Amino acid sequence: MQYDTHQKFSPTTLFLHWTVGLIIIGMLASGVYMVEQNAYWVFSWHKSFGFIVLFLALARVAWRMKNGWPTAAGDYSALVHGVAKVIHWVLILSTLLMPISGLMTSVLGGHGLSVFGLEVFAQNFSVEDPEKTLPINYELSKLGGTVHHYLGYVLIGAVVLHVAGALKHHIMDKDGTLRRMLGKSI
Ligand code: HEM
Ligand code: HEM
Repeated sequence: MQYDTHQKFSPTTLFLHWTVGLIIIGMLASGVYMVEQNAYWVFSWHKSFGFIVLFLALARVAWRMKNGWPTAAGDYSALVHGVAKVIHWVLILSTLLMPISGLMTSVLGGHGLSVFGLEVFAQNFSVEDPEKTLPINYELSKLGGTVHHYLGYVLIGAVVLHVAGALKHHIMDKDGTLRRMLGKSI
């Protein structure tokens, strides 16, 4: 098993960062789009990719615990390190809490979940009116919806700051932060 070194990141870190990162950006864009445009056709895609990302995010947390966090590529003040660390924590925790709260909204709301057509959680149909779905736990489903909504916007802010930080390192500081995440040695 290859681990991260100061000079070069392991293939595991690169794979998990870029698959999770790109899916998350797609999830944020599709989430805002489907809610604002009432685009119901997007929901099944959003839920399917969201379910898959939960497992990738869990694998990433396990990898961070085994491998540790990367050491900084440049020489910065404690404040700059602190801000980057907080943003990394917000990013990694929200990649877990977003799919969990999304699942709470849908599954506990009685809507069920199919992953690319494969049923994982069944819809909860009403016995009196089989056309209608009933919530399994209305309060927890609402709580999930509130967390999903607000954390979604916190995550958008964190991703914007994170990408701006990566570009600042590359363009202004000219250090190896971005190059290392692109698989190059520094
Ligand atoms: C990392 C994964 C996910 C991200 C980043 C994400 C992001 C978002 C965002 C930004 C919104 C729009 C929020 C709003 O404006 O109210 C949204 C809505 C929604 N998401 Fe997700 N989502 C994820 C996973 C999931 C999963 C796994 C499910 C369900 C299984 C799900 C179900 C929903 C539903 C039902 C809505 C619409 C809520 C409403 O109508 O207010 N999401 N998502
Ligand atoms: C185009 C978009 C992105 C770019 C250019 C980018 C760039 C980078 C770079 C250069 C690092 C290394 C920082 C260091 O060495 O300290 C990093 C780390 C990290 N990034 Fe991103 N990133 C992007 C998107 C995302 C997204 C959407 C997430 C949200 C899940 C994310 C989460 C993280 C986390 C948690 C780390 C810490 C190291 C790790 O766990 O792999 N990134 N990113």
